[in-house]
Amino acid sequence: MTGDDFLSLVRQRFSCRSYRPDSVPETLIARLLEAVRLAPSACNKQPWRLAVVSDESQRIRLCEEGLLPGMQRPWIRGAPVLIALGVARTTVTHRLAPLISGIDYPALDLGIAGEHLVLQATALGLGTCWIGWIRPPAVRRIVDWPRSIQPVSLISVGWPAESSESHRTGRKPLSDWVSGFIAK
Ligand SMILES: Cc1cc2nc3c(=O)[nH]c(=O)nc-3n(C[C@H](O)[C@H](O)[C@H](O)COP(=O)(O)O)c2cc1C
Repeated sequence: MTGDDFLSLVRQRFSCRSYRPDSVPETLIARLLEAVRLAPSACNKQPWRLAVVSDESQRIRLCEEGLLPGMQRPWIRGAPVLIALGVARTTVTHRLAPLISGIDYPALDLGIAGEHLVLQATALGLGTCWIGWIRPPAVRRIVDWPRSIQPVSLISVGWPAESSESHRTGRKPLSDWVSGFIAK
């Protein structure tokens, strides 16, 4: 794989909000999970916890009870798989270290792990969308996690019914957010 291959994969990814009803084979879900498993994390604590929800009644409950007001529910209901991402905080790395540095390491870890999943899904031709506008307590109840696991996001997964070309979101120029580098 070349650097260009990776950049074209990154360009292919978009937040997919329309899915075909076809199911996603378990072998492909397993590859998404392997991409998460290989993610880096602070002190290698691997604090992510995932719940793969393909059962229709559980998905409907996540849409009806697990989202905050203002979210468009129909497209989320149409996703054949919803993956809940949660964090299990450890005492030293996740509670004490942030008191010293001020950095939320598990939030970083979960972002990296989730994006590994998303990019692996893109490489398999699957569409995904991060869904952060959730009610964590409701999500926890629906996926049957203990209180020690804090839900942080859902990610919808399925076969896209829209193309990345039909969905282009803007990005700020480098000059807005990087210093020490002048783009030619
Ligand atoms: C942490 C996070 C939370 C997000 N939450 C939502 C959400 O609740 N609902 C939604 O429709 N999109 C959500 N998105 C998708 C963003 O709106 C989307 O990534 C952004 O507009 C850029 O578009 P693109 O992903 O198609 O490039 C979220 C993305 C991230 C990374």
